[in-house]
Amino acid sequence: MDKILFKNIKGLVQAGENIPNIKKGAEMKELPIIENAYLLLENGIVKEYGAMSKLDKNINNTATSIIDSTGRFVFPCFCDSHTHSVFAKTRETEFVDRINGLTYEEIALKGGGILNSAKALSEIDEDTLFENSLKRVKEIIKAGTGALEIKSGYGLSIESEIKMLRVIKRIKEHVKIPIKATLLAAHAYPKEYKENHQGYIDIIINKIIPQVKAEKLADYIDVFCERNYFSVEEMEQVLIAGKDAGLIPKVHVNQFSILGGISKAVELNALSVDHLEELGDDDILALQKSNCIATMLPGCSHFLSIPFGNARKIISNNLPLALASDFNPGSTPCFNLSTIWSLACLKMKLTPAEAFNALSVNGAYAMGLEGSHGKISMGSSPGLILSKPLDNINQIPYLYGESFVDKVIV
Ligand code: NIG
Ligand code: FE
Repeated sequence: MDKILFKNIKGLVQAGENIPNIKKGAEMKELPIIENAYLLLENGIVKEYGAMSKLDKNINNTATSIIDSTGRFVFPCFCDSHTHSVFAKTRETEFVDRINGLTYEEIALKGGGILNSAKALSEIDEDTLFENSLKRVKEIIKAGTGALEIKSGYGLSIESEIKMLRVIKRIKEHVKIPIKATLLAAHAYPKEYKENHQGYIDIIINKIIPQVKAEKLADYIDVFCERNYFSVEEMEQVLIAGKDAGLIPKVHVNQFSILGGISKAVELNALSVDHLEELGDDDILALQKSNCIATMLPGCSHFLSIPFGNARKIISNNLPLALASDFNPGSTPCFNLSTIWSLACLKMKLTPAEAFNALSVNGAYAMGLEGSHGKISMGSSPGLILSKPLDNINQIPYLYGESFVDKVIV
């Protein structure tokens, strides 16, 4: 049995038996830290923790390894509930196009953007896609992410969507963190269906979803509900078909415009609504009547120079907020959640504690891992981050661009 003992931890963060599985409103300010602590991990499961003064000396003899954590903090790993980590190619050409004045939406209207990724995806074989993506996921884990959601959505055809989801399934078998898979065939209309939306929706409903169900390839069903992408009514058709196949809705909405997608997603029992750079009062009212979690993606706002989501509006209305990376080759090439932590503090006016809660417990909730991930409690298995020496945890988002992660244990 693998028994790892952390001793002399300067601060054991998000640790306790009464930590809620989701924190909303003012609760998001609370981040419990046990000072001068120990923690015993048995096969990745939290077995014991508490103040050093309570450490039973016998544990020292049975531990298979002891990590002296003097001057360091131990955190539950981050939970990244929204990524597009499987893709064929990066898109730095568009990055330069945007520097030269085009917007993300203009590039997409000219046939670039997601369609560029779809073309590259159709040309890569499954094994190569798997190897490249697995390498990427290993880097994501090294940066402190201990639970990861990955979407399809660069396939936009039966073969390629299934190829992406099979790759996600293979990645699951090769890493030690939980991975959730999301079917996002409704990410954009393929060129051939630009004028025939219903034609593509029919393919999603009658061909792709049944095959995903038969091969058990996904947990969630996603749609990019946005002007020039999927309308609310189109989203509804896809979500209903996904639900009938046992997939839980989790959607892209309100990135550039407010179409009413949030209330429709809530009505269809979505687990999360993601992006929300635009957010209206009706959206807040809809969320207040639901268990759906608002998820914001500050890396996307930063990279595309679009507004940051109004996180304070979510919190002041006593709602829970999750944050995620949105890691993808078009709008957010950054998977590092320490960077997202800084951006949330700097640009969305979240306190360091609020932002960490949004990246841990609330991120876990947004991917169906509440309880086991995002916090350190008896029996939880969140994966752990051992920090470099730090004075306090506020230094982490403050020292933006610097890595605070020394070791990640998953
Ligand atoms: O969440 N907004 C839609 N989808 C992705 C970006 C996709 C891309 O540009 O490749 C996002 O930002
Ligand atoms: Fe996304």
